[in-house]
Amino acid sequence: IRKIGLLTSGGDAPGMNAVIRAVVMTAAVQGIEVIGFSHGFNGIFSNEFQQLHRAQVLHIIQQGGTILKSARCKQLEQPNGPAQAAELLHKNGIEALIVIGGDGSFRGCQAIAPFYQGQIVGIPGTIDNDVDGTDFTIGFATALDTALDAIDKIRDTADAFERIFLIEVMGRHTGYLALAAGIASGAEQIICPEYGDVDVVDLQRDIQQLQQQFGRSSYIIVIAETMYPAGATALAAELTKATSIECRACVLGHLQRGGSPVGSDRILATKLGAYAVEQLLLGNAHLMMAGEQGGQAVLFPLSLTGDKKKQTDRYLLDWQERMLQDSSPRKV
Ligand code: F6P
Repeated sequence: IRKIGLLTSGGDAPGMNAVIRAVVMTAAVQGIEVIGFSHGFNGIFSNEFQQLHRAQVLHIIQQGGTILKSARCKQLEQPNGPAQAAELLHKNGIEALIVIGGDGSFRGCQAIAPFYQGQIVGIPGTIDNDVDGTDFTIGFATALDTALDAIDKIRDTADAFERIFLIEVMGRHTGYLALAAGIASGAEQIICPEYGDVDVVDLQRDIQQLQQQFGRSSYIIVIAETMYPAGATALAAELTKATSIECRACVLGHLQRGGSPVGSDRILATKLGAYAVEQLLLGNAHLMMAGEQGGQAVLFPLSLTGDKKKQTDRYLLDWQERMLQDSSPRKV
């Protein structure tokens, strides 16, 4: 392999730059050229690319975002999009492609594969952690710390006013980030897909029972986006009406996507970036994702990354539920 294509796709995640750095550095010592496409798969169609040199990436490990820019790509979803993308990759002499992104981006890889002669390998970069075949995705640990920083601050003001706060975190249709942020912030309640639908009457009862038992105090509910279709602000208004206790909402939103990656994300990014290049060179990586399981770098089929079989921590889910039941007869 003489030339590898590289792109970042879908929701950006802290640590994507650290992957870019690791890929370019690992390839450079083998004398392999890395071509970085801009704006995800769009860069293939628009011929927006540049050769990435070691000097450009040496000091980007600490930077959030992605120097290659990211995007979702409508053109790839057109009937002849994948074939066209493959043709352009061939035309530009790209002998293998590395895609950093989530399961949506990996579906893009699989769409191109039947028309493309080189290997395509994925590296999991998303704050959602919703990719099968890897214990953690790059960016999740940083997003968690960002959410915690915000929730800890909200706890101060919630305590001062003895208010109920609903804090909405990202995660698309999954609850990995909500569960982790709820547990680590000591939230009174977590609303995420694993616990089932929101029931305002149950919520009201849980809050009132806890407050009867321990007196009035702040009450933090971490809620995964999409759990309440009208949004956390609407749910807060409903709860205020139901409990007569002031309830506020805070949607953390895209804050969670930014910032300098934490140490564990930088390390995971470096490991998976280097591993992806090495496995490509060995010829093992076609339609595989470079992930990490039990501390070991592993290859996992891209076709299985979106199966949503990854378990959230059952032990912590149950523990959190028991803590709630301690003040409430509710059975889940
Ligand atoms: O997949 C990452 C993510 O941040 C999700 O958590 C969220 O649902 C989505 O992307 C938001 O997408 P956009 O930036 O397009 O609004």
